[in-house]
Amino acid sequence: MKYIVVTGGVVSGLGKGVTISSMGRLLQACGLRVTAIKIDPYLNVDAGTMSPFEHGEVFVLDDGGETDLDLGNYERFLNIHLSQDHNITTGKIYRHVILKERRGDYLGKTVQVVPHITNEIQDWIERVAKIPTSEDGKEADVCLVEVGGTVGDIESSVFLEALRQFQFRVGTENFLLSFVSLVPVISEEQKTKPTQHGVKDLRSLGLSPSIIFCRSTEELSEPTKQKISDFCHVPANNVLSVHDVKNIYQVPLLLETQNLHQLLQAQLKFDLKSPDLGNWKTMANNMSSWTDTVQICLIGKYTGLQDSYLSIIKSLRHAAIACEHKLDLQWVEATDLENNVDEAWDKVKKAQGIIVPGGFGNRGFEGKILAAQYCRENKKPYLGVCLGFQAVVVEYCRNVLNLEGANSTEFDESAKHQVVFFMPEIDKTTMGGTMRLGSRVTKFTHPTFDDGSISITKQLYGNKDVIHERHRHRYEVNPEYVDQIHEGGLKLVGRDETGERMEVAELPGHPYYVGAQYHPEFKSRPLAPSPPFHGLLLAATGKLDGYLKSL
Ligand SMILES: *[C@@H]1O[C@H](CO)[C@@H](O)[C@H](O)[C@H]1NC(C)=O
Ligand SMILES: *[C@@H]1O[C@H](CO)[C@@H](O)[C@H](O)[C@H]1NC(C)=O
Ligand SMILES: *[C@@H]1O[C@H](CO)[C@@H](O)[C@H](O)[C@H]1NC(C)=O
Repeated sequence: MKYIVVTGGVVSGLGKGVTISSMGRLLQACGLRVTAIKIDPYLNVDAGTMSPFEHGEVFVLDDGGETDLDLGNYERFLNIHLSQDHNITTGKIYRHVILKERRGDYLGKTVQVVPHITNEIQDWIERVAKIPTSEDGKEADVCLVEVGGTVGDIESSVFLEALRQFQFRVGTENFLLSFVSLVPVISEEQKTKPTQHGVKDLRSLGLSPSIIFCRSTEELSEPTKQKISDFCHVPANNVLSVHDVKNIYQVPLLLETQNLHQLLQAQLKFDLKSPDLGNWKTMANNMSSWTDTVQICLIGKYTGLQDSYLSIIKSLRHAAIACEHKLDLQWVEATDLENNVDEAWDKVKKAQGIIVPGGFGNRGFEGKILAAQYCRENKKPYLGVCLGFQAVVVEYCRNVLNLEGANSTEFDESAKHQVVFFMPEIDKTTMGGTMRLGSRVTKFTHPTFDDGSISITKQLYGNKDVIHERHRHRYEVNPEYVDQIHEGGLKLVGRDETGERMEVAELPGHPYYVGAQYHPEFKSRPLAPSPPFHGLLLAATGKLDGYLKSL
């Protein structure tokens, strides 16, 4: 196993994640299997309890791990499946060491940061790097390790010390350290001082990077590279320019032209074939020349916090790429629809498709229901995810089945018709109800409609009978109403393996009206859009029928 550790300096939010994923993508194009670990120097033990306001979206993994968006970025870029152990935090490491101490594993010795914490970190990295994450189920050749935070933080120092020791544990030919820095351009001059200081901090910890990635608004000049080389103890060729490009998919191409793969090979001595980025390259280059635009309207809550909807946005983009359209995303506050704000309704009416994603907190549900009603009645393509699916069900019960007062007990515990209600998964160990989290089975048990046509959703999933998608919910469609809803016309085409939990709703005779209890956005990929999102964009661009015929 080869380890490529990436540290960062100067400021956070530099696009360290994109740089690292792009390096991984390039190595994959050279025929290597790549996995990734993210180290976060926080004391939190999992992200499920963290506020979406502070941290953006909660990203759900197959194993039910709730993490932040970085692991999602790795999964998408590298097309891999990570587990919760791929996210290492200070809290997790300390908890582990303290548990061992309580159990007497240390035989009464004094337990210290060095060596106990630092060893635990190294053991963890070695163990998790071996977990297969690629589709073929084989162990990776290369493990990318991102160290969050910036070098010089008090928090990250114990991880950096562990990594300093780690290079000797695994052998220096299996370990490469890199550094992502910022080269600001001030009065047209590329400034290298922040990079120099960052590397100096790293070297004071006994670590010296072999490769320096410089984020900048413009391409690094040769004199700038030379200067960084002189002050930071690396050859000028190992200073890479990661300047702004038209779209993030071009970053792997940018690294390829600077021969990153050969620089890595020189130190890590792996077998490489010459890189073939294939479809990825076509996608990255062609995207900017598309002229058609598709307008999609996202109806949510606190839509100012766009990070909370990151995977949804990415999924829409991936689907737009597959339809060769530029995405024009409009944001509408669900409560504005309730309050009849003209501007909000205009956006809904103008859009070619509507997406209602999952939500947190209880404001805006009625607005989402109004959007679902509008799309149903006006044959506008609609995709509802999680709460957006529940809005479809409640709307249909109220307005088509005339179940007056139909509601979700999440918002109204005494609703007359509790068509969406609390049905948690029972956890045998805690004896309590817990959130239904992670990958679960959906079966298309009712795929054929009265007119003989087959569910569009099923077709979009390649006509598979069984699919696996990720979940995160506590409320769901009340089984008591299922037959009435289904026979009343809103087809509940997909269900879980017991047939008790409803997963997919679809309205026959409508261009595209689909709701999913699960979160398809977590498994979308740039070159393999999530089927429900793909369907929405195909319908919005008028390509759905042609696509289904071509299958
Ligand atoms: C890892 O877990 C910690 C603790 O919950 C969280 O703060 C951090 O954002 C997570 N990182 C990733 C990449 O998921
Ligand atoms: C990408 O662009 C090239 C050149 O313009 C064109 O030949 C090719 O068909 C395009 N491919 C896709 C998938 O759009
Ligand atoms: C559903 O419940 C919400 C929250 O209590 C309430 O505001 C709304 O009026 C209810 N809708 C109906 C149709 O009962």
